[in-house]
Amino acid sequence: DGESIHEMFSSHQGITYNDFNILPGYIDFPVGAVCLETQLTRGIKLKAPLVSSPMDTVTEAEMAIAMALHGGIGIIHGNFPTPEGQAAEVLKVKRYKQGFISNPKCIKPSDTVKDLMMIKAKHGFTGTPVTENGHPGGKLIGLVTSRDVDFIPESRYVTTLIQDVMVPRDKLMTGHEKIALKEAYEILELEKKGKLPIVDSDDHLVSLIARTDLKKAREFPLSTYDEKGQLRVGAAISTRENSKESVSLLAQAGVDLIVIDSSNGSSMYQVEMLQHIKSKHPEIQVIGGNVVTQAQAKLLIDAGADGLRIGMGSGSICITQEIMAVGRAQGTAVYQVARYSRSRGVPVIADGGIRDVGYITKALALGASAVMMGGLLAGTTEAPGEYFWGANGVRLKKYRGMGSLDAMEAHVTSQDRYFTSEADQIKVAQGVSATMRDRGSIHKFVPYLIRGVQHGFQDVGIRSLSLLHEKVENGVVRFERRSPNAQLEGGVHSLHSYDKRLY
Ligand code: XMP
Repeated sequence: DGESIHEMFSSHQGITYNDFNILPGYIDFPVGAVCLETQLTRGIKLKAPLVSSPMDTVTEAEMAIAMALHGGIGIIHGNFPTPEGQAAEVLKVKRYKQGFISNPKCIKPSDTVKDLMMIKAKHGFTGTPVTENGHPGGKLIGLVTSRDVDFIPESRYVTTLIQDVMVPRDKLMTGHEKIALKEAYEILELEKKGKLPIVDSDDHLVSLIARTDLKKAREFPLSTYDEKGQLRVGAAISTRENSKESVSLLAQAGVDLIVIDSSNGSSMYQVEMLQHIKSKHPEIQVIGGNVVTQAQAKLLIDAGADGLRIGMGSGSICITQEIMAVGRAQGTAVYQVARYSRSRGVPVIADGGIRDVGYITKALALGASAVMMGGLLAGTTEAPGEYFWGANGVRLKKYRGMGSLDAMEAHVTSQDRYFTSEADQIKVAQGVSATMRDRGSIHKFVPYLIRGVQHGFQDVGIRSLSLLHEKVENGVVRFERRSPNAQLEGGVHSLHSYDKRLY
């Protein structure tokens, strides 16, 4: 019944996720038993095969932290005004300690109670560290809480200085930056305090611990940690010569993984960049790409790539296939490249065109070790940018292709992905700028994606990703192509209206 994966791809027509179904298998295990552990690159394992795309409306530190906490990984985009800006985002992820607020809102001693009230109104904080310069990282001068200002009449807000009402440094309980979270919470409990400022040996504020966080402390059993117990993070660079400066800054910041971001990875620029990184920083894993053919994959694997990124023109915001006339249907691209790369021991990431949970399962079945998502994650709380209201009261966030005019105009680095030179006055966009509806927080959305994929695996009768690859390869897992009418039938249809909530 059905056909093997090799039969399905035996015709020379490009097909993609929506063109086929996987046939059901026999279920003899619960959904929670499905193991999605995977090899992202030769040297990095993930507990969940999910990667957030290096796009300036998708991945900065906040997204990368949330993705890593849930077992995936985030790739910080490279479209910052300076290379230092990107390295700083990497550092935020590497320095992240669960329960520690690493970038607390601070106030200066010479500020007024009015300023404090404004912070309180905007952020709802009840305890604010006072530092010399009013920023985290400054020398700690004191702490001011609601208790210190509750009885000050509003008429005196502007004239009362923080330094006159705060708890000064010598009366303040603090923790040293090496403190363990558990120990910090014990101090808070014992001292009946709400906030514990954490300082370094020079008494500069490093972070803050809040008692309220203790109550909502969560476990993240899938977290992606390095050997030192820090979250793992990747960063994208272009193939431009000056990206070598970014590489050394990213290495200093402790990046685990560099993605060489190019719409067509088979270029002399990429080969040269790959060899440069591998020889200068052998400790960093390098993902090359993008590729869609076996010949492209061979070139980059020969040059030392630890992983490959597959996709050309399949992304939701992409117009590459229409404008450049070049690309490949994503299903075929994943199948062909994965088949070759597996024979070389190099894992591949299916990048772009992941519209929903089922697409993840299909990409993995075609041989991908992980999927990279842009649009699917762009509307989440952790994606960069503010929400705004669209027509009909829908909450939206901006999402744009890195080859859109919008992104290219923002900073020059975005042009490099598409071999566009800064001096070239004739720009050819390869992506569009769009909006995405609010999808809530990654903390809810990614566990939903993981559980959804586990359900898919259970229906196929397969307990783990490695078993899926094996049983697809040897023809045990069966596929079936579907007609356009079958595709319509497979979606919701014939309804007057329906509730679109899914998680
Ligand atoms: P999704 O479908 O997840 O796709 O939104 C994200 C992926 O699309 C690629 N990308 C682009 N491709 N023009 C393109 O042809 C663009 O402007 C563009 N921007 C991003 C990229 O591989 C990303 O991960």
